[in-house]
Amino acid sequence: MEAPTSSLRFTPAGSLRGSIAVPGDKSISHRSLILGACAVGETRIAGLLEGEDVLATAAALRAMGADVERLGDGEWRVHGLGIGGLLQPEAAIDCGNSGTSARLLMGLVASHGITASFTGDASLSKRPMGRVIEPLSQMGASFTSSPGGTMPLMLEGAHPAVPIAYRLPVASAQVKSAVLLAGLNTPGITTMIEPVPTRDHSERMLRGFGAKLDVGEEDGVRVIRLTGQTDLQPQNIVVPGDPSSAAFFMVAATLVEGSDLTIRNVGMNPTRAGLVGVLRTMGADIEEIDAREVGGEPVADLRVRHAPLKGIEVDPALAPSMIDEFPVLFVAAALAEGTTVTRGLEELRVKESDRLATMAAALEAIGARVEEREDGLTVHGTGGEPLAGGGPVATHLDHRIAMSMAVAGLVSRDGVEVDDTAPIATSFPNFMALLDGATR
Ligand code: S3P
Repeated sequence: MEAPTSSLRFTPAGSLRGSIAVPGDKSISHRSLILGACAVGETRIAGLLEGEDVLATAAALRAMGADVERLGDGEWRVHGLGIGGLLQPEAAIDCGNSGTSARLLMGLVASHGITASFTGDASLSKRPMGRVIEPLSQMGASFTSSPGGTMPLMLEGAHPAVPIAYRLPVASAQVKSAVLLAGLNTPGITTMIEPVPTRDHSERMLRGFGAKLDVGEEDGVRVIRLTGQTDLQPQNIVVPGDPSSAAFFMVAATLVEGSDLTIRNVGMNPTRAGLVGVLRTMGADIEEIDAREVGGEPVADLRVRHAPLKGIEVDPALAPSMIDEFPVLFVAAALAEGTTVTRGLEELRVKESDRLATMAAALEAIGARVEEREDGLTVHGTGGEPLAGGGPVATHLDHRIAMSMAVAGLVSRDGVEVDDTAPIATSFPNFMALLDGATR
């Protein structure tokens, strides 16, 4: 790997061995800061992900009056303002590359009598915000967005807001969480109907903070009811390792011959752990060690040994439980024997980049055989033969594309040049250091 520009070439570097711990879960880190800011008193967080996305949420909460302080490595303290206690920010809330910061914070602001403008980078400014604008408008908030319902946008919160019953039209934990956060400062009961279950970190953590939340099933669908304006109690939170970050190492250790890598402390929440099952069905050797619970979330150490993979048809119903892991799954599929077919992945087109188009182009550029369809990719694997390599591949400000193509570089003949590795810092600041250490 060569510096100093943000373009880097990833080359085969030997097997992955030893033991690593990946940084804290991004979704849980955002939520721990936000709910800490809504509780009265001091919340302590250990293992917080100190990536740019989470730091954007911390800065936004500070700008709205919460006392958010870093005490040490991953150790943070939040002195909350209580439900409804946010103050008018003096400047625009800059969410950087982070869709989670943008959508969750819009939910939070929507039921406060304050006005805030939300900005972000070129990637975030293209992403659809209509999906949160719609339910939050029903609750009484008003928005002036850029054309097409995008950011920058101005949000005028409603106080008091109106409780709604809302059926999620897209499987999105961010939309669900935005409405629930708005519901915290809304009198009465806010109801979310979730036909396709998505990650449930918000529900788990809201309960942990003492919110009045009922989760049940009615006519076969999940229904979540939150009673607003109930005080939250400050908590001590331990953030488990991010399964979406562990995914790059799971795939790398599976693909690189001779690897035997243990990834410690990986979140195994069933709404997030879909990749482990899919890789196992393809033939991966992933052993769960010491399954336990940390801070209300299931966690395990994962021992991953090299194994040859076979192509499969991935069940579209699994998509929400591995929605961020498809880019690296496509890399695994490119090295498998036979064909892997994925479907039902329209949502990938509105992530940090259009992940179907971006991965299809990047994999083709390094010699993989890929067909792009509207709702997924079909990948014809090499049966373990290295990919040719090449590049530079275009990552379009998408951290997960950059890391996926870094993994592809490890199993290529000539290496893979990634055009821009800077976005990796949004979710996994020590990715390169861990990769160097594991392959040494
Ligand atoms: C997230 C939800 C998912 C995911 C994102 C984080 C969250 O987005 O892709 O990385 O923390 O709620 P959607 O809600 O848009 O599916």
